Amino acid sequence: MTRRKLAAGNWKMNGTSASLKELKSLAEAHPNPNCDILICPPATLIDRAAKTAPEQIAIGGQDCHPNATGAHTGDISAQMLADAGASHVILGHSERREDYEESDADVREKVVAALGAGLKVIVCVGESLAERDARNTLDIIGGQMAGSIPDVVTGENLVVAYEPIWAIGTGKVPTLDQIGEVHDFIRLRLVRRFGEGVGLSTRILYGGSVKPSNAADIFDVSNVDGALVGGASLSAADFSPIVTALDNA
Ligand code: 13P
Repeated sequence: MTRRKLAAGNWKMNGTSASLKELKSLAEAHPNPNCDILICPPATLIDRAAKTAPEQIAIGGQDCHPNATGAHTGDISAQMLADAGASHVILGHSERREDYEESDADVREKVVAALGAGLKVIVCVGESLAERDARNTLDIIGGQMAGSIPDVVTGENLVVAYEPIWAIGTGKVPTLDQIGEVHDFIRLRLVRRFGEGVGLSTRILYGGSVKPSNAADIFDVSNVDGALVGGASLSAADFSPIVTALDNA
C-alpha cells in the first residue's frame, strides 16, 4: 500500500496578512510536489490563504465547534471552515486538550462534525513526559485513538498525528526507535479496528520539533507518512527543506 505523504504546517496563533507571502514562496519552491502540502493558518487568514495559495497547497483550520451554527460566541463551525476554503481541520491538538480541557469525547464530536462538513481531519494524539516515564505511552495513545476517532472515518478523510507533548516546541525529539514504536502501534490499532482498507491507507504524521535538520531521518522511520510542523512551518525558508525531505523520502 503506497500512501501519499503529507507535509502539514500548523501556524497556531501566529500570522497576519504579511504571512500570506510565505504561501507563495512555498508554492514557488514546490511547483510539482510528490507529497501533499497543507498549511493551517489562524482562522482569520483561512479565506485569504485559500484564495491566494496555488493549488498544490491545501488550507486547513486548527479547530472547529461540534455544532454547525448557534449561540457560541467566538467559535467557528466546520461548515464555516469549509465555506472559507479549508479542506482539512486539525482536531484534538494537545494545546487545545490542555487549554480548553478538551476530552476524547469532545474531539470525537468535532471529528463527526468536520467529516459531515466534508473536511478531512487530522486527529492528534500524544503522551506527556510523565506518562512516557511511567511507561504508559502506548496505553495513552490507544485510549486517545479509541475515544477520539469515530467509527465513520475512511482512509481518505482521516489522518492521525502522533505528537508527544514533551517534544512540542521544545527542541526535544523522541529517538527514531521511539517514533517507530508508536507509529507501528497506531497502524496496528487502525488495522485492527477498521480493517486493512482503512487501516493501511490512513496517513500517520509525526509532530514535535520537526526541523530541516532532523526531517529526513524521521521520514525514514516505518509508518511515518509525513509531519505536522509548528514553528518550522511559519516561514517558507524553514518549511521548504522539510517538504523536500518528504518529497525525497
Ligand atoms: P513544533 O513543530 O513547534 O514543535 O510544534 C509541533 C506541533 O504542535 C504541530 O501541531
